[in-house]
Amino acid sequence: MAAYEYVDHTYDVVVVGAGGSGLRATLGMAEQGLKTACVTKVFPTRSHTVAAQGGIAASLSNMGPDNWQWHMYDTVKGSDWLGDTDAMEYLAREAPKAVYELEHYGVPFSRTEEGKIYQRPFGGHTTEFGEGPPVQRTCAAADRTGHAILHTLYGQSLKHNAEFYIEYFATDLIMSDDGQCTGVIAWKLDDGTMHRFNAKMVVLATGGYGRAYFSATSAHTCTGDGAGMAARAGLPLQDMEFVQFHPTGIYGSGCLITEGARGEGGYLTNSEGERFMERYAPTYKDLASRDVVSRCMTLEIREGRGVGPEGDHIHLHLNHLPPETLALRLPGISESARIFAGVDLTKDPIPVLPTVHYNMGGIPTNYFGEVLRADAEGKDEIVPGLMAVGEAGCASVHGANRLGSNSLIDLVVFGRAAAIKAGTIVDPKAPNPPMNEASVEKSMARFDKLRNANGAKPTAELRLDMQRAMQSDAAVFRTEETLKEGCVKMAAIRKEFADVKVSDRSLVWNSDLMETLELDNLMPNALATVVGAEARHESRGAHAREDYPDRDDKEWRKHTLAWVSDEGDVKLGYRSVVLDPLTKQDAGGIDMKKIAPKARVY
Ligand code: FUM
Repeated sequence: MAAYEYVDHTYDVVVVGAGGSGLRATLGMAEQGLKTACVTKVFPTRSHTVAAQGGIAASLSNMGPDNWQWHMYDTVKGSDWLGDTDAMEYLAREAPKAVYELEHYGVPFSRTEEGKIYQRPFGGHTTEFGEGPPVQRTCAAADRTGHAILHTLYGQSLKHNAEFYIEYFATDLIMSDDGQCTGVIAWKLDDGTMHRFNAKMVVLATGGYGRAYFSATSAHTCTGDGAGMAARAGLPLQDMEFVQFHPTGIYGSGCLITEGARGEGGYLTNSEGERFMERYAPTYKDLASRDVVSRCMTLEIREGRGVGPEGDHIHLHLNHLPPETLALRLPGISESARIFAGVDLTKDPIPVLPTVHYNMGGIPTNYFGEVLRADAEGKDEIVPGLMAVGEAGCASVHGANRLGSNSLIDLVVFGRAAAIKAGTIVDPKAPNPPMNEASVEKSMARFDKLRNANGAKPTAELRLDMQRAMQSDAAVFRTEETLKEGCVKMAAIRKEFADVKVSDRSLVWNSDLMETLELDNLMPNALATVVGAEARHESRGAHAREDYPDRDDKEWRKHTLAWVSDEGDVKLGYRSVVLDPLTKQDAGGIDMKKIAPKARVY
């Protein structure tokens, strides 16, 4: 192995990733006076949160009656009763506070006539515990809400003296021999230097792994880097079989058309011009939960009622809405529809298709973001020095299916929660933990091996094989046959990674090596997804098994844990769903009878 020199850094907290959760955690840590670094492979305001469009859910009641209990109920039902009750309560209760904080930090929310934060309807968000009409709960900055939040949080983090390491690619966690996380190693992309960040707390905020699939709304940077690092550190990944397809990715490009489009009155039609959602979800129609809408669209296409020359997509209509509403509320997608579909949405429908959008699974954590592993008896144990937040983590607040606009609120509520917790356990006066040279060496050996990889298969080809396998075999609908085939294909692709070819040996702006490291991260994510899905013999949320069409609470109301070895072997285990709320009903908590499992209809 080549001899590498290191630039060493010492911090109280190192946050990896500068999307919504990473920046909210960074800001919260820095505000409390913790010496905080944020290490990010892209410029902060280019993180994928910038692409979040429709909004952020919180029961502000600005547009009609709402309360946190209704929000919690919708989240529980949306999760198909797989979410952890403590995390779901925490999300719904803290959401208004977290949104008002954003407002005070300077997020330029859209406004009502009276100057309050504007809120729109989103799928699965209702009133009266699912018995009343849709609620306007999703706070929006037009259809560029993520953009507005990201810029504000970055500015605030700088104001509080957080230090940013921009275009640094974190390669691995540094772990002590007894399983404590003590830092990260990062490669500075623009000059090729290697950096060791020693920290009392590392927060993984690296986002999802949408790019394990062929067609995704996710940025090309969404490569599951945090989960890759966690898996290499011997930690489990949780509920990876639950992959969300957003109903309205633009046909062809996969670019997102926000659910806010349907919130503002848009609707879907098939080749017969029928508003088919009325048939499947008579109450909430196009505003049913997005896993439901994605399945209905797929069924329409399968049954020969798709639109277009190949009959392989669906139409989304906004052309009946006043052009002023489109310009005011949906300017971003007006532009996307024009650029990516050649459609003037004031005149014509947009061609859309369910597209991979979000990963409910991730690194298991409690609702403060502290990472969990199983102890010798299989009980939850906190990994000292390590947190995971946002899409990289699995709190589990979304269970088997996330509601639209519950992602942005997850980012800020749990980014903030991680900072609150760190404030109680990180002592700025205490010495930093020692560096474990053996852990660094192991990581650098992998890095060096990939840098010098001289096999027969270029990274891009191998990545495409993986993306195609995942797209066809771990799709909206799944069967034993497709999933088994997916497991076999993914195992073979992982083996072939030993024969990967990297052409560029330099350390400066070596995108070939970076993409190879990203592929090495994507692989455990993909393997855990397909193996976990094959094993789960039921349908729940985004996991729709044609051979097991019903939810089976007796056998399967439990979280999947997947340990993925460096060779690609996957070992599965399970952990219980947290059923107890944080607050008992007589102390102001939710009536537990309201959230007892039942059939999930919209
Ligand atoms: O449709 C959207 O605007 C996406 C929102 C979300 O995933 O939460």
